[in-house]
Amino acid sequence: MTGTVVIGSQFGDEGKGKVTDFYGKNTDLVVRYQGGNNAGHTVVIGDQVLKFHLLPSGVAQGKRILIGAGVVLDPRVLKKEVEEFKEKVDLGIDPRTHIIMPWHNLEDEGREDSRGKTKIGTTKRGIGPAYADKAQRVGIRFEDLVDKNRLAEKIRDIFPVKKAILEKVYDLKLPFNENSVLEEYSKLGELFRPMLSDVSLEVCTALDDEKRVLFEGAQGTFLDNDFGTYPFVTSSHPISGGVSTGVGMPLNKINRIIGIVKAYTTRVGFGPFPTELNDEIGTHLVETGKEFGTTTGRKRRVGWLDLPMMKTSMRLNGFSEIAITKLDVLSGLEKVKVCTSYNVGDKKIDLFPYSNKGLENAVANYKEFDGFTITGKEKNYSDLDENAKKYLDFIEKEIGAPIKLVSIGPGREETVLK
Ligand code: IMP
Repeated sequence: MTGTVVIGSQFGDEGKGKVTDFYGKNTDLVVRYQGGNNAGHTVVIGDQVLKFHLLPSGVAQGKRILIGAGVVLDPRVLKKEVEEFKEKVDLGIDPRTHIIMPWHNLEDEGREDSRGKTKIGTTKRGIGPAYADKAQRVGIRFEDLVDKNRLAEKIRDIFPVKKAILEKVYDLKLPFNENSVLEEYSKLGELFRPMLSDVSLEVCTALDDEKRVLFEGAQGTFLDNDFGTYPFVTSSHPISGGVSTGVGMPLNKINRIIGIVKAYTTRVGFGPFPTELNDEIGTHLVETGKEFGTTTGRKRRVGWLDLPMMKTSMRLNGFSEIAITKLDVLSGLEKVKVCTSYNVGDKKIDLFPYSNKGLENAVANYKEFDGFTITGKEKNYSDLDENAKKYLDFIEKEIGAPIKLVSIGPGREETVLK
């Protein structure tokens, strides 16, 4: 039994797509289990840059891919992705997966625009409203989408309430009506009906049959709805525990948890960020690392690697190993810093505070390392610049999990194993 989960250890955008693709070649199934098309996973193969928002990145390796119950699925986006990806797509979708309906995008926009200081900076993809409807038990699931009569019934129930909220509360004009939604979404249901699969059953059976399953997390630990920097979080559970509820699978089916750690930190949207760099080094990291959101194109905020955050991530996720990404982006800097603790008032702390109140007042303390050069041509871990190894050794020791992979460029081959 090999159940491997790939987890974003920071605020998302750690490079999960590349690592999933890398390990995907030795895998039978690749499964998404939370989030939706707020994610943007990039895979670079030669000159080709593939960007997936919903399709699990394993599709690039021609694997069977699955979308589990914990995902919120926008069928319009899925149709586009399947069409754009020219190769054959072998996809299964759990009947319990909730559907993002067009009113969810508008609700997301309306709510964001009405928030003053508490604006989250969401991707406006309807993620929060779709999860809210799921929790309120008024959501539409994939099993409803593929059954026109059930879909009509559901839309008939929900539409008047959504229309009233959007028009009366958010003062928005609806570019659709009950009939147009039913017509468009029942066609999408028809298109995707052959892909219906009980993903919980398929995954558990595959693992019992000694198949290898890779679970591709989306977003990152500190965007977790409970354990992130609430309310500046997403509406799902990107921590490793989310895989069980998102797939419908016991925890003991997972025997490998890979934490993806970007060699520095980035964040999109609002919320606390103690190691943020608003100087020329920050600008350099944004430009060199092409730190612009895959989904929204927004410029990402950047900062040094934050070990109190990483130690907390380790506690929340239980990483059995770590993959370091984008080490090459730090190449050429004279000094590289890493945050080792924070001062909050007169206290020194070395874990991520549970409250934003603590974080907003946190002043980072740093350890400084001599700079290093990464050419992208290194074939083995031992080929890496000695100063880079010192930086990595320190991170490994502090986090308490072994580094097994280091990414030194966007391409598949720009990867060294340790
Ligand atoms: P939502 O998930 O669209 O509701 O956005 C909530 C917060 O999570 C915002 O700060 C987004 O920028 C952030 N977010 C959502 N998905 C991703 C992702 O895949 N990478 C990085 N940040 C994300």
